[in-house]
Amino acid sequence: MPSVVVRPALLTDVLALGRLAGQLVAYHHQLDPLRFMTMPNVEEGYGRFLGSQIDNPKALVLAAVAEDGAVVGYAYATLEGRDFNALLEAHGALQDVLVDPAVRRRGIGRQLVQEVCDRLRALGAPRVVLSTATENVHAQAMFSQLGFRKTMIEMTREST
Ligand SMILES: CC(C)(COP(=O)(O)OP(=O)(O)OC[C@H]1O[C@@H](n2cnc3c(N)ncnc32)[C@H](O)[C@@H]1OP(=O)(O)O)[C@@H](O)C(=O)NCCC(=O)NCCS
Repeated sequence: MPSVVVRPALLTDVLALGRLAGQLVAYHHQLDPLRFMTMPNVEEGYGRFLGSQIDNPKALVLAAVAEDGAVVGYAYATLEGRDFNALLEAHGALQDVLVDPAVRRRGIGRQLVQEVCDRLRALGAPRVVLSTATENVHAQAMFSQLGFRKTMIEMTREST
């Protein structure tokens, strides 16, 4: 199976990152359009945002790159301080992970998340926390495989 390299994202990856991030937004929005927002020109805006995080010392933007140079997945994570509202000490937060549907189930998601966790640990994060949509059982299976335990359930009610 062709190998994929996970490396820090470059500014030249921004278009590809935006396309992938747009899929992440669309996936969540279709799950529950009231809870998960979307926005116009989401790919361009998200790509620009991820590009702006490349040099942020409290953020990680990683790209999974195929042998032909195509960016086939990405992950975005942040270093967070103590959060009294969430009863969370300083920690790493995995914000995004997505793999191109054409190359899923080849271990790339696992590779991305493991690399995020290794890098967050090297930056001093004692643990990594993430949120995942209730219905996203495939992602949950991957996170469980990688040692994540279930710790919170988010609930939403409309005010109407
Ligand atoms: C979740 C996601 C990143 C997984 O990427 P991937 O490269 O396909 O994942 P991997 O090949 O590393 O799979 C890791 C494990 O996840 C589970 N898994 C992933 N996709 C699965 C599927 N379609 N059906 C069943 N289990 C699945 C399996 O346990 C798998 O291990 P196995 O192949 O040894 O059985 C990918 O499906 C994706 O991009 N989904 C849309 C975005 C998303 O949900 N992101 C997470 C938001 S919290």
